[in-house]
Amino acid sequence: MRITYRKRGVKEYWTSRWDDIPVDEPMENLSVYPLKYAQMTVKEKAGKVLEAGCGAGRILRYYHDGGFDITGIDFIDIAINKLQKVDPTLNVEVGDITNLRFADQSFRYVLSFGLYHNLEHDLEKAVKETHRVLEKNGLVCASFRADNMQTRLTDYLAARKVKKSKGGGQMRSFHKMNLTREEFESLFTSVGFAINFIDSVENMPILYKFSFFRSSGHKKFDENKARSEGYCLSWLGQIVQNFLMRFFPDQFCNIYVLIAQKL
Ligand SMILES: C[S@@+](CC[C@H](N)C(=O)[O-])C[C@H]1O[C@@H](n2cnc3c(N)ncnc32)[C@H](O)[C@@H]1O
Repeated sequence: MRITYRKRGVKEYWTSRWDDIPVDEPMENLSVYPLKYAQMTVKEKAGKVLEAGCGAGRILRYYHDGGFDITGIDFIDIAINKLQKVDPTLNVEVGDITNLRFADQSFRYVLSFGLYHNLEHDLEKAVKETHRVLEKNGLVCASFRADNMQTRLTDYLAARKVKKSKGGGQMRSFHKMNLTREEFESLFTSVGFAINFIDSVENMPILYKFSFFRSSGHKKFDENKARSEGYCLSWLGQIVQNFLMRFFPDQFCNIYVLIAQKL
């Protein structure tokens, strides 16, 4: 387990991030994270879905538009207000994963991408809440920042950028938790889940940070586009990335994704 510190705390970071960008369009690319993994989890329309930490809504809108019974929660009210404005038929509300208002066994599926690693002290409580609101045999699909070479490098580059910037600044606020594959698995098994699947995933390859390695349509960084299409690399970037992921998946992924079942 390793903690990443930055200049701003978690709530401040997500408030300004969701304030800065428009609501996501429904995600399009079925072959990349997170939609690929959501689809491996939510196999049928019967059964309620909770998206915990729905953010700008790319997954929530995909399932809502497809006729699924999906509820989205996020603890950043700006994100929820924007989603309600863009589509008043969405079922979204402000809520915190550590203390959900839903009754026991309310959902068949919980999707929670990039959520749990935002928690410093209440991580186990959040996973217990997830377990509580799921039906028996219900499924959770979750991702978590990996504790490995790739994220250490990312954190080193971020710290160097701050050091070099005007005014510098202290990186003292909790930003994200990083877990090894084994730690991530045991977080879920310890509260009563069985792990069905776990994968090392490159959500945003480190090469995407350099425009040279991005695909032609992605040279100019557009966060909404990348969030909808995936962080697409050029053919050269993809070759290098494929090599790293083939031979060192646990060191060059940036997240782990698991699907677990409530026993
Ligand atoms: C990486 S974003 C993912 C957004 C969305 N799931 C997606 O994949 O596009 C993580 C989200 O979790 C939310 N979040 C962080 N801590 C939370 C908490 N304790 N309760 C509810 N939401 C939280 C953040 O506000 C942010 O929107």
